[in-house]
Amino acid sequence: MTADRFAPTPADRFSFGIWTVGWQGVDVFGPAVRPPMPADRAVRKLAELGAYGVNFHDNDVFDFDATDADRDKRIAEFRQALADTGLVVTTATTNLFSHPIFKEGAFTANDREVRRFALAKVMRNLDLAAELGASVYVCWGGREGAESGASKDVRAALARYKEAFDVLGQYVIDRGYSLRFAIEPKPNEPRGDILLPTAGHALAFINELEHPELVGINPEVGHEEMAGLNYARAISQALWHGKLFHIDLNGQNGPRYDQDLRFGAGNARGAFWVVDALEAGGYDGVVHFDFKPPRTEDDRGVWDSAAACMRNYLILREKVRAFRADPDVQQMLRDARVEQLAVPTLADGETWRDVAGFMPDIAALAERGMAFERLDQLALEHLYGVR
Ligand code: GCO
Ligand code: MN
Ligand code: MN
Repeated sequence: MTADRFAPTPADRFSFGIWTVGWQGVDVFGPAVRPPMPADRAVRKLAELGAYGVNFHDNDVFDFDATDADRDKRIAEFRQALADTGLVVTTATTNLFSHPIFKEGAFTANDREVRRFALAKVMRNLDLAAELGASVYVCWGGREGAESGASKDVRAALARYKEAFDVLGQYVIDRGYSLRFAIEPKPNEPRGDILLPTAGHALAFINELEHPELVGINPEVGHEEMAGLNYARAISQALWHGKLFHIDLNGQNGPRYDQDLRFGAGNARGAFWVVDALEAGGYDGVVHFDFKPPRTEDDRGVWDSAAACMRNYLILREKVRAFRADPDVQQMLRDARVEQLAVPTLADGETWRDVAGFMPDIAALAERGMAFERLDQLALEHLYGVR
């Protein structure tokens, strides 16, 4: 029997949020369909499937109102599962959205006491994240936003958002933690309009921070696509800025509610270019999945869908590599003059004086086709499995 070439190994550096496989299927129209899953069970099962690491919210491990003894017990069980399986904590994050106290936001809540409590909650989990060896700390501001115009002063909210990252940046510096923050943009849901709705908004915001070097982004496939944007482009730009600190891979079908499908389900053509962009862009972080096993699934379906995230990534990786290695593709890339774009517009030592008045053969250039359709058809044929 030949080994399954799409079977993941820890060397592939796949990681999952504890909350993904642990999602009980609660939605706006109905209650839980699956029992709660303790974090240690998620760790053990993910290790069996070939994952490398996990990401967790504080309250994936212990409840919001856990006593200190409860909290310690849950953390000890989590740690034991990590030690038994060799799975690593790559990333951590804070639940600043479930408890009613956060119904109007956390870092940008109108109520100052809520903002101060949110910072305290994050700092407490930063201690745990550092202790468990995480290197990235995700900040998804799902409740930072509003449903109506007058209820939120957006400029003041952004000032408070900046203040939060400045305080937290100083905290990790003072504590000597080697943690960096990754802001996760999302356009809407649960708030009507969320602050920092896309990767571009978050990248611009980071420039205003006291410690911009400590903050990057964690774009999610579905979130960019909910905004009608191209996720592969978002991560390519983030890589160009040196700001792609983390990724949330999943699946989405166009601009509608946040589907959080398994990676590769949903926009399959987009997923092909996502894997290509990660490979070509030299992304060296963990390949993290943030999906929700649909409400239709039982326990077995949960693990089937988690395994499929990794399998689909490896299938697409093989296809992307075959596409790039295909001599016909290489010829078409030349026909499309793709490599010419890497050549600076001005030669070494040239200035604007050297291009002022430049006059090419305008008619010839205007007439020239780009051969992009032939090139793209080859990509599709690789994706469709006929090459
Ligand atoms: C969503 C979000 C969340 C966050 C997670 C990390 O589905 O809207 O992606 O799953 O990623 O809470 O803080
Ligand atoms: Mn999502
Ligand atoms: Mn996410």
